[in-house]
Amino acid sequence: MAEKNFMVKIESLEKYFGEDVERVHVLKGVSLEIPEGSLYTFLGPSGCGKTTTLRCVAGLERPEGGRISIDGKAVFASGERVYVPTNKRPIGMVFQSYAIWPHMTVFENVAYPLTIQRRPKSEIRRKVEDVLKIVGLHGLEDRPAPKLSGGQQQRVAFARALVNEPKVMLLDEPLSNLDAKLRVQMRFEIKALQRRVNITTIFVTHDQSEALAISDQIAVMHAGRLIEVGTPHQLYSRPKRKFTATFLGLTNLIEGKVLDLGADSRPGKIETAKGVLSFIPAAGLAKGQPAVLSIRPEHIQVHKQQPQGLENVVEGTIKEAIFMGDAYHCQIAVGDLLLAVHTHPFLSMNPGEKVYLHLDPQSCNGLPAEDVEGMDESMLGV
Ligand SMILES: Nc1ncnc2c1ncn2[C@@H]1O[C@H](COP(=O)(O)OP(=O)(O)OP(=O)(O)O)[C@@H](O)[C@H]1O
Ligand SMILES: [Mg+2]
Repeated sequence: MAEKNFMVKIESLEKYFGEDVERVHVLKGVSLEIPEGSLYTFLGPSGCGKTTTLRCVAGLERPEGGRISIDGKAVFASGERVYVPTNKRPIGMVFQSYAIWPHMTVFENVAYPLTIQRRPKSEIRRKVEDVLKIVGLHGLEDRPAPKLSGGQQQRVAFARALVNEPKVMLLDEPLSNLDAKLRVQMRFEIKALQRRVNITTIFVTHDQSEALAISDQIAVMHAGRLIEVGTPHQLYSRPKRKFTATFLGLTNLIEGKVLDLGADSRPGKIETAKGVLSFIPAAGLAKGQPAVLSIRPEHIQVHKQQPQGLENVVEGTIKEAIFMGDAYHCQIAVGDLLLAVHTHPFLSMNPGEKVYLHLDPQSCNGLPAEDVEGMDESMLGV
């Protein structure tokens, strides 16, 4: 079988900022592989090192250790003393403050990277026209930049990054300057644009819904480390780490001790304060060890009568039920444990009412109690 083609490969990246006592370890051995043509997102809370990783790929930061290659060629390798400067790397960039030049027209803005390279006028015209068509700004060539809407300015920034025909696009929170509605609309545009051009794209965001909506793959980062990589579906439905389960969407965590890991088609068993529950174990769990069970609010079914013949049923009392239009968002107390539960809006949910909750074993993910050695609960923000 042919080896999968990775456009960007990052190996054991180490980055520090500051000197002496001020010195902080910002990237702690980050390794990842970005398939050609994919939209790959770095997701994580503020300060986890997303921008720093991206800037290392761009050559705007010099790491202390590790290796980065683009399209099979090393652009940084600490051991081999390789360091390719930014302007020699095959990349295009759009940052949060995408700063298109206000004194220039759309055409001049997009042409700029080629103009400074003194390319022939005919080539510049052809390339600029091509990318303006791709981003849907054809016909607006002579419009002064300030007379564009926020979304159009954003597209100018994309066109300018694309005009040099880079192999990789680097986008650092490119939508965060836009208002909420336009932001959501631009998600679709970026995704469609990326598909059309089929360009390998690294997208940085701290917004989990943006990451879910747009990505082929997501790398979840925390405190300078890579926690987990997967498709939006994998990370949401079958997270392997507690941090992923809590950072991507809402989840309920129930602590316990593994009794049995189960087998291929048979769920495992975990002992919790709410009884023995069936669950699907993640890799790394061991019999007799502590674990947490993660179940999403929409995967808990509420029954008014005790259901017969079902595993994983617990009794609870509705504490709060908020009508959201498309669902009820409830808090249901199971003894001292408060579970978030989302139910169908047609099912009436009354505070004080006793209910039975079915925690479908297939949706109960058993995860290691601790994500990374030395990482405590407060660092995980759970
Ligand atoms: N030039 C710098 N000098 C010193 N520390 C820095 C520098 N740039 C970043 N840092 C620190 O490195 C860490 C990672 O920063 P980075 O900008 O990569 O985070 P981020 O994940 O992009 O966060 P955000 O979502 O807020 O943009 C932070 O603790 C930050 O304070
Ligand atoms: Mg950042």
